Amino acid sequence: CGIVGYIGEKKAAPILLSGLKKLEYRGYDSAGIAIQEKEAVKIIKKEGKLDKLKASAESEVFYGGTGIGHTRWATHGRPSDINSHPHTDSFSEIVIVHNGIIENFRELKEELIEQGHRFKSETDTEVVAHLISTYYDDDLKTAVSKAVKSLEGSFALAVMSHNEKDRIIAVRKDSPLIIGLGENENFLASDIPAYLEHTDNFYILEDGEIADIRKNEVDIYKFNGDLIANKTKTKINWDAEMAEKQGYDHFMLKEIHEQPESLKRLLEDNLKDGKIDLTASGLAENWLDNYDKIHIVACGTAYHSGALAKYLLEDKLRIPVEVEVASEYRYRNPIVNDRTLMIVVSQSGETADTLAALRLARSKGASVLALTNSRDSSIARESDMLIYLKAGPEIAVASTKAYTNMVAAFYILLIDGMRQRDDISEELVVNYTSDLIKLPEMIRKLSQQSKEQIEIIANKYAQKENIFFIGRNTDYTLALEGALKLKEISYIHAEAYPAGELKHGTLALVEENVPVVALGSRADIFAKLFSNLKEVKARGAETLLITEENQKFEADSVDYLIELPVLNKDFAGLLAIIPLQLLAYYTALNCGEDIDQPRNLAKSVTVE
Ligand code: G6P
Repeated sequence: CGIVGYIGEKKAAPILLSGLKKLEYRGYDSAGIAIQEKEAVKIIKKEGKLDKLKASAESEVFYGGTGIGHTRWATHGRPSDINSHPHTDSFSEIVIVHNGIIENFRELKEELIEQGHRFKSETDTEVVAHLISTYYDDDLKTAVSKAVKSLEGSFALAVMSHNEKDRIIAVRKDSPLIIGLGENENFLASDIPAYLEHTDNFYILEDGEIADIRKNEVDIYKFNGDLIANKTKTKINWDAEMAEKQGYDHFMLKEIHEQPESLKRLLEDNLKDGKIDLTASGLAENWLDNYDKIHIVACGTAYHSGALAKYLLEDKLRIPVEVEVASEYRYRNPIVNDRTLMIVVSQSGETADTLAALRLARSKGASVLALTNSRDSSIARESDMLIYLKAGPEIAVASTKAYTNMVAAFYILLIDGMRQRDDISEELVVNYTSDLIKLPEMIRKLSQQSKEQIEIIANKYAQKENIFFIGRNTDYTLALEGALKLKEISYIHAEAYPAGELKHGTLALVEENVPVVALGSRADIFAKLFSNLKEVKARGAETLLITEENQKFEADSVDYLIELPVLNKDFAGLLAIIPLQLLAYYTALNCGEDIDQPRNLAKSVTVE
């Protein structure tokens, strides 16, 4: 799931290994590197975590200054040493690492086997190495250019030839790749954090581009062979420190605590003289007039931010809003036209399904607004309008600060839409804006106050097998996100239900001491939520209620209570995410799990 490359005067091996370490957050199950040594290309690859690869790399001596590396997240063929990248052709002349999926690999493999090629692995990637070797004469770029014409699917490739020691060819189609530019050295990676400590100057490859990388030069071509003469360099002004743990035990904990600051950055970008100002996003002044409906499409945590937004946008803006996961949206036939506003939400901006959904909606005439945390991502570049989330690098696989900024970006959009409505008073717009501005400070206080109590609850939860989350309206979507956080990092089965729906089935699973987390941040429907809480309590559940501090209820139904500061009912939900994130974190900590890199999961899913 991560590609790295180095070409320069230093020894490549440690640079590749440290780049892979920085990309660990993307999730992987095996890793490998290939270095151009005098005699031959030397490859080591191992199933398992990077430490295993590192240990075997340290037992060998590498001198070469050119190399490529990879962390693999298995798609074709189980995780094993053999299936790990790099892969080679039959004679180990072409060496390759790949992200993505080659959809026509079976046909290609059959043809190549007929021609006498011998395969070692079950992967789709190995086919590409063989294919390139069939076109190879004495120029690697020419061979790669010819080979990509036969490939279907998505691919980011880094390719070396044993015969051309000072050259790496990189190709991008539907899977991200960036080139870091140094002095007498250049770097290649799937994502910027890999080499931020070495350079802040990057080329972001676009789909359909091939880069010819040497230590002093990088030339970029289109697939048709045209040289791109003026490729823009992107200056990244993140501090390398932002992608370090800075004393926290885990990136996830660090990122939870960064939320007041990252939220402030987003608000500052979109507020002018105390008012929402979305001019920079490209949205029209009265954008609401331009659309008949809104489609919100995303995956995972980003989808949950959209689910929350649907409740608020429909309620206040009176415009129909559909929200759907991208992998479903892209394979049905959604009703879209030029009066549809498509909002895609993606932390990475590279999620394959979300990108495909965006392209589908655009092809049907929709205007696309992206909410993304990467301004240089494919999703940002292919959208018509953009709200840049500004959460800063998010490394832990489980998303925290990006989610908060996604929800806040929807709050911003909501207020801007409310301004356009005749039936909404200016006073309400002003109140909502001032509540929004209060959020970072409230979040800061809350993350300090709730810690101790959450640790006590987490200690108990770590022993449980099933945990249920219930809520109504926006709180239901918070329940979805709370359950997702918990299950992805603690591996405890967690399920979210609309509180009123529980009795239509899932209630059968509630028995003595089963934890139920009830989210009751919405004052308007608190009584309804509380009666559902009593229903589970009556069946023996151990209840945790998260609600605002002045809320009245019968205390004997509540085993644990977490109080939130008082805020308007539409924005209070976001406060609840802080205890939910901390609960997931401390429960996983008690379970002893790998919090930043949960098993089987990847941060950025660039395959469908
Ligand atoms: C993966 C990650 C999730 C994330 C989802 C969508 O599954 O593990 O944390 O929510 O992808 O990612 P995106 O970058 O599009 O927000």
